[in-house]
Amino acid sequence: METGGPSTQFGTNKKRLLTGIQSSGTLHIGNYFGALKPFVDSYQEYESFLMVADYHALTSLKNGDELRQNIFNTVKDYIAAGVDPSKAVIFQQSRVGEHTELAWILDCLVTVPFLELSHAYKDKVAKGLEANAGLFTYPMLMAADILLYDTDVVPVGEDQRQHIEYAREAAAKFNNAYSQTFKEPKEMILKNVAVVPGTDGKKMSKSYGNTIPLFATKEEITKAVMSIVTDSSGERPENVFAIHKLLLDQSGLDKIYSNPTMRGKYKLIKEALIEDLEAFIAPMREKRANITDEEVKRIIEEGSDKARAIASAKMKDVRQRVGVAL
Ligand code: ADP
Ligand code: TRP
Repeated sequence: METGGPSTQFGTNKKRLLTGIQSSGTLHIGNYFGALKPFVDSYQEYESFLMVADYHALTSLKNGDELRQNIFNTVKDYIAAGVDPSKAVIFQQSRVGEHTELAWILDCLVTVPFLELSHAYKDKVAKGLEANAGLFTYPMLMAADILLYDTDVVPVGEDQRQHIEYAREAAAKFNNAYSQTFKEPKEMILKNVAVVPGTDGKKMSKSYGNTIPLFATKEEITKAVMSIVTDSSGERPENVFAIHKLLLDQSGLDKIYSNPTMRGKYKLIKEALIEDLEAFIAPMREKRANITDEEVKRIIEEGSDKARAIASAKMKDVRQRVGVAL
């Protein structure tokens, strides 16, 4: 099997990009500028796969209704943020049984001490998460997600770097044991994506309660912006400016921050930010409100069928090589 060149499954010469999202709560504008926007801006240059990692979510979430809701929400968030489901394969991990099947085979190739090196595992257990066996073998399910599709690049945040190394290592171990089968993927980690500050000036994060939700209503935007901590000693309110900078170009910023009638008037500047956030969020919020659960189901079903066609062909080869196909 050819594993060196670009993927041609869809009749294109584009390289293949795959990423997975564990749905774990309401997105904020930090998530948008740090993770969603870079994906939305680049996915059409590749043959792209966007996977809802629902089996990964099971390592921490033990509530069926909540998980089901999260699956719908994650797909809606991405579509509202600009992913066109006709241009990316959006699919659900659990609908493609080959993921857990390959994960088992990879589990049998790696050792416990190797998995014990996982920073993500150690961090999660240190934070009080249950050390269940699924959490421990999480990297091999993620490796299976990636390797099944002969993925070239995997866009992730810095915290996921080691997981991509695990995927490469799993591919190498399999190739070494059974001859060349899997492509070794590369991570795509954006270096210059600034950390978006929250309303308290610290990194915006859902665990700090300092967020501006991505699909906030005008009232929620107003409440969040009015609560932004400002330093009265400076020329301009830096925490407000940091968010404004994400939304406006230089001339837009000059109209506010170099305007003598606005200088030092933090309330007026905040009011301008509320309007600019509303102009940015409203179209996405409306788009999101118009996406029905039925539509999401259809997108997921179609996407998962496409994903399964690729994954099952790959697994056929894998089963042959490991010797379970008779
Ligand atoms: P949170 O800190 O809210 O729990 P996650 O850890 O779930 O966010 O991050 C999801 C994605 O969003 C990651 O790719 C992460 O790098 C990005 N991200 C999260 N917070 C920010 C932020 N304040 N600025 C830029 N990117 C962020
Ligand atoms: N572990 C990733 C995270 O927490 C989610 C994920 C699961 C993923 N499978 C993947 C990311 C495959 C990229 C590729 O963010």
